[in-house]
Amino acid sequence: MIIGVPKERKVHEYRVALTPQSVRVLVQRGNKVIVEKNAGVGSKIGDEEFRRAGAKIVESEEELFKSSELVVKVKELLPEEFPLIRKDQVLFSYLHLAANRELLEALKKSGVFAIAFETVELPDGSLPLLSPMSRIAGRLSIQIGIHFLEKTGGGKGVLMSGAPGVKPGKVAVIGGGTVGYNAVLSALGLGAEVVLIDINPRKLEFFHEEFGGKVKTLPSYPDLIKKELKDSDLVVGAVLVTGDKAPRVITNEMISEMESGSVLVDVAIDQGGCSETSRPTNLDYPTFDVDGVIHYCVTNIPSLVSRTASYSLSNNILPYVLKIADGKVEEDEALKKGINVDRGRLLLRLD
Ligand SMILES: NC(=O)c1ccc[n+]([C@@H]2O[C@H](COP(=O)([O-])OP(=O)(O)OC[C@H]3O[C@@H](n4cnc5c(N)ncnc54)[C@H](O)[C@@H]3O)[C@@H](O)[C@H]2O)c1
Repeated sequence: MIIGVPKERKVHEYRVALTPQSVRVLVQRGNKVIVEKNAGVGSKIGDEEFRRAGAKIVESEEELFKSSELVVKVKELLPEEFPLIRKDQVLFSYLHLAANRELLEALKKSGVFAIAFETVELPDGSLPLLSPMSRIAGRLSIQIGIHFLEKTGGGKGVLMSGAPGVKPGKVAVIGGGTVGYNAVLSALGLGAEVVLIDINPRKLEFFHEEFGGKVKTLPSYPDLIKKELKDSDLVVGAVLVTGDKAPRVITNEMISEMESGSVLVDVAIDQGGCSETSRPTNLDYPTFDVDGVIHYCVTNIPSLVSRTASYSLSNNILPYVLKIADGKVEEDEALKKGINVDRGRLLLRLD
């Protein structure tokens, strides 16, 4: 199969979907790989490295899409890229269609076969192609939060660890999946007081047993969320209902009752965000203010650590790229769940 890897066009998107290591495996298995010029530069991977791995470098995105049977990229297509996709081509990338009706319509119209990383699902319900980036975004959510809590970041000036005789900062994490778990680990590492809220009692059980008394666990009831948010310094939005819009568990009222200078990092923004006050931002202008609460709603957080993220993503998607290239999508139940649009037909259940 002819596999194409374009350069990402989203603002400050520095990741590349396949690294030279993965390209070499694909080429050894009889595929042809083409990579757009400078596609890896943001991850410190030069064209020469791709060439050495057996890829052909092409000059333009147009040429890449025209020549590829399978396009593997990181982020969803931007409107200016919609005309590039074509009938019977396979597109394999993050899509987040529940939060992007414009892209959904474009994919349907094009006749493309679109498989979304984020809905590839193993029999146990886990999401093997979302979790590598969620792990990274979860760790970063705390790093980002502590930066904006500093005075020069616009925050209230709180040190997470506290100081002798001074209480630590408080972090509330809503959603105890991959993002939530990694956010909790980082927050605990800094010495913060941590609260984890999830709708699934099994998740609460897990956190309670894993962290003993160090993490307070609570069910996802509006009254409890409201109470916890009031005195939280940093809130991490990490909820997900696979393939669907994020549930709006944080209301305007809850935000208005938080202390000014507090921070909300809404990682779930790629699925629409879990606060009524959230709207997507980018790495150029990552934050905005609502009632004095700093909102960080960047849809491509892992791009901040592009090199780590590219290698992690590429390692995880490679087995699935090989299956697609071998024409074995229908034989793999996890991959089948990733099919969002099949030549004009929407297979994802949306409200
Ligand atoms: N912004 C970014 O750059 C970025 C990067 C990576 C992941 N994400 C997003 O982060 C979100 C979380 O991803 P994940 O991999 O941790 O998902 P996950 O499926 O591992 O975890 C989601 C958790 O949310 C919980 N949940 C669902 N509804 C809830 C509710 N009403 N109240 C409380 N908890 C609820 C689930 O029980 C689950 O534990 C997703 O939207 C994902 O796409 C964003």
